[in-house]
Amino acid sequence: MAIKYGDFRTVSLNKAGTAVCIIDQTRLPNEVVWRDLTTIEEVWLAIKTLAVRGAPAIGVAAAAGLAVAANQIQAADFAEFYQKFCRLKAYLATSRPTAVNLTWALERMKRVVLDCKQYDLLTIKARLIAEANAICDEDEACCRAIGENGLPLIEGCRAVLTHCNAGRLAAVRYGTALAPIYLANEKGCAPKVYADETRPLLQGARLTAWELQQAGIEVELLCDNMAATLLSRRAVDAIIVGADRIAANGDTANKIGTYNLALLARCFHIPFYVAAPCSTIDIACASGRDIVIEQRDPDEVTAQWYARRMAPDGVAVFNPAFDVTPAELITAVITERGVLRPPFGESIAAMLK
Ligand code: MRU
Repeated sequence: MAIKYGDFRTVSLNKAGTAVCIIDQTRLPNEVVWRDLTTIEEVWLAIKTLAVRGAPAIGVAAAAGLAVAANQIQAADFAEFYQKFCRLKAYLATSRPTAVNLTWALERMKRVVLDCKQYDLLTIKARLIAEANAICDEDEACCRAIGENGLPLIEGCRAVLTHCNAGRLAAVRYGTALAPIYLANEKGCAPKVYADETRPLLQGARLTAWELQQAGIEVELLCDNMAATLLSRRAVDAIIVGADRIAANGDTANKIGTYNLALLARCFHIPFYVAAPCSTIDIACASGRDIVIEQRDPDEVTAQWYARRMAPDGVAVFNPAFDVTPAELITAVITERGVLRPPFGESIAAMLK
């Protein structure tokens, strides 16, 4: 099914506030399947299995899932409600460890409950639905602002290279790294996008290539190990990626393989941009060393995409889902509030002040 760019939100609450609606990203690009998640377990599993993924989308899904589940709580008084709410919140927080947007969104939902404790439970439940919808709306506006701020940086670029999927499927709409591309496309001047396939789960091949095709933007796919050859041909003017967590000094966790690209960008003297909302900045993490990196199932490397195994049974597997790009390799961080430049320790602190 062809979906036109602008038609859908990747993740949202239904009107009644009884379900989290997602496009199931495990089924793309072969099938476009929409799912309504109505229980906390379904939301947890959807995040864990990457049916909904990408740092901003994970945050929105968690907030929406918590609102839906909180509305199902049976409690005699606030104390009982709050205890059950905290249990649900803690459970969702275990779904994935690296993208800070998850805990950021859950904390924001908890603030609502605490700020409303003088109200009856029905009012608190309604406020939670309203907050989840606000987080969803804000994400869309925020990503558009990232696009606007990033647009001047890609002006004149013939082609950019991106990694994983930091497009509309990773957020509510627009995405982060791809937001400037979408805005350029609205003006009729989008650069060509080279998309790394992004082993082992192929978010670049399955998702980035799909959504750019849907939007009518020129996209060319490459295997991750082809990037140096591509850059050596001077075919790419900038690299632009998203982020799962940015430490206070600018070190950036993003999909495994991002660090490789940052090194290549330095080698070939092209700018390396990170695009992310401020909710991805974690000032509690002093540097990348404090960021927890998710380790995933070895089968993602040895057997995920083929009926036959791709590696011998029992082989040891190194499968970190993310890596940390040191701040000194990053040219700029594009946020909804503006473009941050090095030294990032100072520019981040000044922006968040
Ligand atoms: O494991 P994933 O698919 O959730 O990883 C996603 C990424 O690494 C994205 O680049 C990141 O979340 C930024 S999304 C705007």
